[in-house]
Amino acid sequence: MNSMKWQWNPLKTRRDSRAKSEPKPIGKDVNSDDFQAANGTITSLLSRVRLKSPPVPFGGETRAVSKTSPEHLAYTSFLKQHPEYLRTLELDDVRKEEFERLDKQRHIYLDYTGGAVYPKSLVESHTSILLHSTLGNPHSVNPTSTLSTEYADAARAAVLRFFEADPKIYDVMFTQNATGALKLVGESYPFTEGSRLLLPLDSHNSVAGISEFAKRKEATVDIIPLQHDLRLDDSDVLKSLHIPPSSASQPNLFIYPAQSNLSGVQHSLEYIRLAKAQGWDVFLDASAYVPTKKLNLSEVPVDFVCISFYKVCLGTLPVLGV
Ligand SMILES: Cc1ncc(COP(=O)(O)O)c(C=O)c1O
Repeated sequence: MNSMKWQWNPLKTRRDSRAKSEPKPIGKDVNSDDFQAANGTITSLLSRVRLKSPPVPFGGETRAVSKTSPEHLAYTSFLKQHPEYLRTLELDDVRKEEFERLDKQRHIYLDYTGGAVYPKSLVESHTSILLHSTLGNPHSVNPTSTLSTEYADAARAAVLRFFEADPKIYDVMFTQNATGALKLVGESYPFTEGSRLLLPLDSHNSVAGISEFAKRKEATVDIIPLQHDLRLDDSDVLKSLHIPPSSASQPNLFIYPAQSNLSGVQHSLEYIRLAKAQGWDVFLDASAYVPTKKLNLSEVPVDFVCISFYKVCLGTLPVLGV
């Protein structure tokens, strides 16, 4: 049996290589004195800053910029006036090591709500696993199947750790995507006559689809309106969360997006506590939220949460939801 134990650490390769060859970068813990000091060494730091020729069409080559060129002088002068700009050198390193293809192809990629750009080290570690392991169908007990099961279990445990979710409370189910996770809950939630399904107007299409499952079982579907600025009004939410006595003994489900894919608005996670206090089951759609924000499930305990890993780090690698 191949007993290789794999622990994914996308930053490992990058950190290891820098530790050997590069000075400690000016990082986020730099204070203003350090900025002053940095000012004096800007010239040496500039050797780490990758100055490029002006943009050329896709696939064009970049050229080194001479130290006496107007670009270099302008950039030096800019850094002297704004030394805090050096804070992002570490990001430049990440971009160079993990996402160099963006620069090579002249991309400025912003659509992280749509899907993330996968880092090079992730592709390399995944490729390495596939090349050095023999993985079978996990539903068996032979060595190849056991290894697949170990990897799947390790991935589930990593997801729980990432969201600080207590394994005694939470289970992880891998689904085709967030829509797959929503559909599973929508299909199996015990809606009944007198139950309520509550969602805000800016819910994703895949959430809106759950209302069909609810209606089929004669549950009531209520929509919380948006204000002109596309935010939710707290008093509207509170009013909608009120459960009349006739529905109090029925299963009631409140689904809302932590971040709206429609507007980018991040709704208050406090609604979770308020809804739970009134007896709702809460499903947090965190698909558009977790690519840029930390979700700590020990602080905001929910009944269901869905995320899309292709929006967090996998890019267009096989799509995966939870
Ligand atoms: C808020 C939100 N919910 C659900 C989805 C659906 O995600 P998936 O494409 O993984 O099914 C998206 C996708 O953009 C989204 O932004």
